[in-house]
Amino acid sequence: MKRHPALIPLSRDHHNGLVQALRLRRAAADGDASARLVAASEFGEFFRNEERVHLRDEEEELFPLLLRHVPSQPALLREARVQHVQLQGFARKLEIAVAAGIVDRETLEATGELLDAHIRLEERQLFPLIEELVPDDELRRLGLADRDAPAPFGACARPSRASRSRVVAQTDVPHSCQRGAARTQAFGGSPWPGESHYPGT
Ligand SMILES: [Fe+2]
Repeated sequence: MKRHPALIPLSRDHHNGLVQALRLRRAAADGDASARLVAASEFGEFFRNEERVHLRDEEEELFPLLLRHVPSQPALLREARVQHVQLQGFARKLEIAVAAGIVDRETLEATGELLDAHIRLEERQLFPLIEELVPDDELRRLGLADRDAPAPFGACARPSRASRSRVVAQTDVPHSCQRGAARTQAFGGSPWPGESHYPGT
């Protein structure tokens, strides 16, 4: 399946997500208590450092583009967004389990299955729908390709994934960039934006 260049950064993230999903399911099926703890702990790190930013990029940048070209929210998009919330819930549950030192098979397996199903939904159905309905020039303006690149000196570039995965101090960025930084700060504790992009939900 040929992916639009603008979506390739997200598809790369999906590859990493599928690796995590497989590890979770394997640990649930075959792992002992310590293997489950390790898998859950690694997943927590992945979620904090990569997945939160990935989900936010989709919610804030990509999905609103699709909404401009449909009369109402497609069922597929609604399902993907529900899964985002469920994934966040599982990540929180596993975080608590890791802190307690006991990770049960069921939660590990359910998290792995949901992550796997979610990624396949986006790759096989939602992204093709976006590629079909959103004009090429709008997708090209998405600008996710540079999200891991360091900002050139003095430039107001999109904050890198690393900086967006932690709370960004407003003093770290030029004044003209502070609006974006403030938004990042606002989501420092939670990856979820307001619901304003999604009327009728
Ligand atoms: Fe995704």
